[in-house]
Amino acid sequence: MNPARLLHELGDEIRVCTLCRLAQTRTYAVPGEGDASAKIMFVGEGPGQQEDESGRPFVGKSGQLLTRELGKIGVSREQIFITNIVKCRPPGNRVPLADEIEACNDYLMAQIALIDPKFIVPVGGPSLQTLVSKKLKITASRSKVFRKEGILFIPILHPSAALRAPGTMQMFLEDLQNLRDFLAREIEENEITDIESSLGITSENATQNAGSGANSHSQTGAAPSNSQASGEDDGGTLSLF
Ligand code: URA
Repeated sequence: MNPARLLHELGDEIRVCTLCRLAQTRTYAVPGEGDASAKIMFVGEGPGQQEDESGRPFVGKSGQLLTRELGKIGVSREQIFITNIVKCRPPGNRVPLADEIEACNDYLMAQIALIDPKFIVPVGGPSLQTLVSKKLKITASRSKVFRKEGILFIPILHPSAALRAPGTMQMFLEDLQNLRDFLAREIEENEITDIESSLGITSENATQNAGSGANSHSQTGAAPSNSQASGEDDGGTLSLF
């Protein structure tokens, strides 16, 4: 079966999913939408009210801002696939909980495997942390390029942050300009940020920490997590990565 068909069937499965508590409070699950053979995937945090009421991703205020600004850099919604780390709205738009992200993870990984994008744009911190590393901060990682399992990740600030804080709008717009530049040319090897070194992990202390179980990401200011700072993938629950 072709990827578009499989993606559609996956969407049908997501729409009736009851794997976590978010199923009890949602109106509609929001599987995601767009081109099944897109080169670029955008992955946000989770549906908000308008998304929950319509079953479509990024259609509320922040989604409209993202769509408008993407249009200005020559990227249309039809060209991309856009989804979220959790497919159902967390009540009151709270940040999704770890077990909710985990429950939805197989869906996201299956979408990525079917679409096989060249680029993934994590939109906001929770998406960056789910897809690239729990220890990365969006403020320090935005507009950088990371590589994991052959996919290039270019995180951007979440448009809802841009709408909340005027100073952040400029940073969000800068992220989109940088994204346009990255998409328009070949990305050189030396532009790709090594995930471990951006966490302050050297191969030497990674080995030590693997032995001691100590966390080694203090330079990021990130909260300690229970994953090993061993220099291995710390995507935690992710099966694809
Ligand atoms: N914010 C998100 O992260 N995702 C949406 O779909 C809408 C708003």
